[in-house]
Amino acid sequence: MKKKAVALVLAASMISAVLAGCAAAAPATTAEPAAEAPAEEEAVEEAEAEAPAEAAEATGKTVGIAMPTQSLERWNRDGSYLKEQFESRGYGTELVFSDNKIEQQVKDLENMIADEVDLLVIAAIDGESLSQVLADAKDAGIPVIAYDRLIMNTDAVSYYVSFDNYTVGTLQGQFVVDQLDLDNVDGPFNIEFTAGDPADNNAGFFFNGAYDVLSPYIEEGKLNVVSGQTQFDQVATAQWNTENAMKRFQNILASYYSDGTVLDVALCSNDSTALGVAQAIETDYAGDNAVLVTGQDGDEANLANIVDGKQTMTVYKAVANEAVATLDLGDALLNGETPDEGLIAASNWSFDCAYDTSSYDNGTGIIPSYLLVPTVVTVDNMVEELVTPGYYTQDDAGYLHPTN
Ligand code: GAL
Repeated sequence: MKKKAVALVLAASMISAVLAGCAAAAPATTAEPAAEAPAEEEAVEEAEAEAPAEAAEATGKTVGIAMPTQSLERWNRDGSYLKEQFESRGYGTELVFSDNKIEQQVKDLENMIADEVDLLVIAAIDGESLSQVLADAKDAGIPVIAYDRLIMNTDAVSYYVSFDNYTVGTLQGQFVVDQLDLDNVDGPFNIEFTAGDPADNNAGFFFNGAYDVLSPYIEEGKLNVVSGQTQFDQVATAQWNTENAMKRFQNILASYYSDGTVLDVALCSNDSTALGVAQAIETDYAGDNAVLVTGQDGDEANLANIVDGKQTMTVYKAVANEAVATLDLGDALLNGETPDEGLIAASNWSFDCAYDTSSYDNGTGIIPSYLLVPTVVTVDNMVEELVTPGYYTQDDAGYLHPTN
């Protein structure tokens, strides 16, 4: 019997036990019952929380949602948006975070397959490490959606949902071109790059997108990479870890900028790395100019740095919409359909999305992809882009806080 069903039975018995307990505790007078209601409601809510699947599992199907970690801010939002969306459509859910540990994610996926989930939605920690466990998913007839990060070298993945990752990079690169007015001024300006986790298939797209926009100016000598570190492997950050990014950047500042050399730009692929780089600049950079720092994700601490002028922009990706697209795709799959471009029109989404059948080859062939559109956020448009749509609130001091 499916573990989930067990949980349901448990929950149901708990509900009745709680209710019985409440009832048992109540004095005999009718007047009293009113007072007891809140306890009951509480008990129901508690039981609901215990077994959300009952209410949500009108479909009798369960979706396994595997997120990389809770230590990188956005995945907490992705996890809860996905859970919310699938449950709102009558699916049970199993949501796990694997602490950025590859072997832990494999184990978590094995557990979900053993639980006989009906669909897997996976943001892989290491896109190269899931072939075996997903072969088991395929054998069990469980469709797999690669969420945000492509999963490599397995034909068990049927679809990919993400943002246009290359465009995230080109937006960062073009922002630098525009801010420094590189088409009209000679410079030179000094720039250093910080990229993401080599195990994450997205990291190369982000870096290449930015580098492809900036390399003509590097070749012209308008942009100068003082450290000479222009290859992805030289600028990558294991696990997207803030500390790793900070330490590397402290070394770069000590080695190449301690003699008064000016640093103009720190091109960082995302916010968790930008946080470390901004920290290194604050403590270890001798210059007094404001360094242009890029990012991605709209993490709370980074939005505060943008308000305080320690970071200049972030590329925002509305993960609430990424979850909606994943729900409609998953729903179609679980109804035995083979979604294609038509899903976008049929779903009537309030956001733009492109159906792509050429950009993402996972080594076993092209994976049909639904790609959402990222946006540039600065101190000038953050209210319009983040607060007005309800993704964040703004406090009296002007700082933004995620609503999820
Ligand atoms: C990427 C993701 C980015 C960023 C990074 C670190 O795969 O697309 O939004 O969050 O992981 O978590």
